[in-house]
Amino acid sequence: MLPQDRHADRIESLIGQMTLEEKAGQLNQEPSTVDVPLDMVEKGLVGSLICANSAYAGTDRQARVRAAALNELQRVAVERSRLGIPLLFARDVIHGHRTVGPIPLGQAASFWPEGVRRLAEIAAQEARADGIHWTFTPMLDIARDPRWGRIAEGFGEDPHLASVMAEQVVRGFQDAGLHSGKGMAACAKHYVAYGTAEGGRDYNTGEVTPTTLENVYLPPFKAAARAGVATVMAAFIEFDGRPATANPDLLNGILRRRWGWDGVIVSDWNAVAELVNHGVAADLAQAAELALLAGVDIDMAGGAYWRHLPDLVRSGRVPVEVLDAAVRRVLRLKAACGLFDDPYTPEDAAIVEIPDEHRRAARALAHRSIVLLKNQGGILPLRPGLRIGLVGPLANPQAKETFFGTWTLDGEEEDMTDLLSAMRAHAAPREVWHALLPDEAVAQARLCDVVVAVVGEWRHRSGEDNSTTTLDLPPGQTELLQYLGRIGTPLVAVVVAGRSLAVEPVLEAADAVLFAFHPGLEAGPAIADVLMGDAEPGGRLPVTFPRSLGQVPIYYNRKNTGRPVPNFRYRYVDRPDSPQFPFGFGLGYTTFEYSDLEVEVDRDGLRARVTVTNTGQRDGEEVVQLYLRDDVASLSRPIKELKAFQRVAIPAGRSLRVKLSVPRQAMGFFDGEGRLHLEPGTFTVWVGPNSEEGLQTQFRFDG
Ligand code: GLC
Repeated sequence: MLPQDRHADRIESLIGQMTLEEKAGQLNQEPSTVDVPLDMVEKGLVGSLICANSAYAGTDRQARVRAAALNELQRVAVERSRLGIPLLFARDVIHGHRTVGPIPLGQAASFWPEGVRRLAEIAAQEARADGIHWTFTPMLDIARDPRWGRIAEGFGEDPHLASVMAEQVVRGFQDAGLHSGKGMAACAKHYVAYGTAEGGRDYNTGEVTPTTLENVYLPPFKAAARAGVATVMAAFIEFDGRPATANPDLLNGILRRRWGWDGVIVSDWNAVAELVNHGVAADLAQAAELALLAGVDIDMAGGAYWRHLPDLVRSGRVPVEVLDAAVRRVLRLKAACGLFDDPYTPEDAAIVEIPDEHRRAARALAHRSIVLLKNQGGILPLRPGLRIGLVGPLANPQAKETFFGTWTLDGEEEDMTDLLSAMRAHAAPREVWHALLPDEAVAQARLCDVVVAVVGEWRHRSGEDNSTTTLDLPPGQTELLQYLGRIGTPLVAVVVAGRSLAVEPVLEAADAVLFAFHPGLEAGPAIADVLMGDAEPGGRLPVTFPRSLGQVPIYYNRKNTGRPVPNFRYRYVDRPDSPQFPFGFGLGYTTFEYSDLEVEVDRDGLRARVTVTNTGQRDGEEVVQLYLRDDVASLSRPIKELKAFQRVAIPAGRSLRVKLSVPRQAMGFFDGEGRLHLEPGTFTVWVGPNSEEGLQTQFRFDG
């Protein structure tokens, strides 16, 4: 029997004993592990702690967490408060704890569910050993605007890819068991449509139609709910005049009643109190009333619930049953995490050194998150014996911690190997010279056989409240590449970033271009492996790459419109309408051909089979992608949508018959009320290497 069921009687007994103040206290989440209000803990006015000493944990340096310190806080709650209810400890373990993987956008680029799940399992094990019970990940916000810094934290522009990753992250964190000491509660966030923030300006208002909400933004959260995610975080965003934190249709309506999900809903940081700023609450008391009645169980760092819920219940504005239901969900979560069996964390369990297996998992995921955009003349992988000049601002060994990317709270810089050292650790005959300053770089470039220039974004140029008005490289970097490109020595550009960028100038200056979404702890070794050929760049783009900011928003699963390009002239007079690179794009160190596409469809759905042949000289992996279009429907449908993908390894010269399935439900679409439509008619299916290439055929679906 699960702990939350085994302790059901104790939970009811506690609710029966609790005062209104203590009930409200269970719904109060206090910040920081530095100056915790111990007097409030003793009075039972704190139910959980977020281990963060600032509202910008993704950017600001955070105090480390240690089981011993958290146990000390726990003792105050368990031994000195009236009812001894344990605290829940939460932290943003977003893409790794000590073993930091690629940022989620890079994990999406891997199209490797197994690798993403393994990283989550490792993160859960490491963070739980430090005393953390609950993480605020996965972030499932579909993003179509790379100006928005938080595009780094999600799984890109596609609902299917994000849904697959949602399930893997939730299972990776939770399936070992929340009470096992190796699992922890996950949190699907930010519910919902936070990525529609206009102008890419974080926290801004969004605009989303009901059918787009149902077909684009909700599906990853539904996948997380189906995977049993323990908690959901309401988003800061407001659309349709209603902040998500006070929108009962989204929270109690869709999440709880329509999907039957019964987990805990937590607000975002101070978001309950900020209902006053939104102009929907006159004061903190009304903010607390609106949020609780909408379905928000826990008030994160807002101080609205513990201050006002007792009086709101006494005055009748909030029924005590609603309060009790929220408290019950929180206590069940605590029981599920094993806190009613043993509220303390063993203090000798934390890892001291990162285990090799953890590093290998992070490195393998990083290899598969790196995307090869250009490889003119097959310059990559670099052949043995070359004299290599390593240059550029991000090649500086002092800059290695920026490869962690945003939302890295517990990664330690000393655990990293910088790219220069990693390259030098490769086959001895290759000489790797490093130049720090541009003029040194130019001098170096004249003496080397090849120059590797590492450019891109510092880690805090993306993430929360780190949006940009440009998709260009940071100042000076394009000019450096252009200068190096004119010297005549073959030039390889490695672009490291937290978002898609307008890389046209990079493509013009360099012979080869690798794009790495901040690859994490093992960035140095992984990039070196790829440059030197010990691994192939396995990534595929999880977001469309625009030619310029002027094209944004631009995404592959768009509508055809009544005047589709190129049937009609064009959308812009100054640039082609097409993207720089399409969703799903990525080259490798070998080549693949597709043949013999067969499809069959029945009441279970669609099954496609295709032969993929490795036509190159090197073993390699291919991400086989299946896209569908409902050619004619009662609502206009996207020109294509990713419905299945599979990463397959194929030896040089060999062929593989690959099967991809699409369940019948996934062939439908939702109307604005959330009703699924499975309409008969013809569908077009593509199977290929990305969203613009592949074999195509049509079939009839009977609905
Ligand atoms: C932040 C973020 C959210 C994070 C939370 C706790 O404001 O919006 O993603 O989990 O606060 O740090």
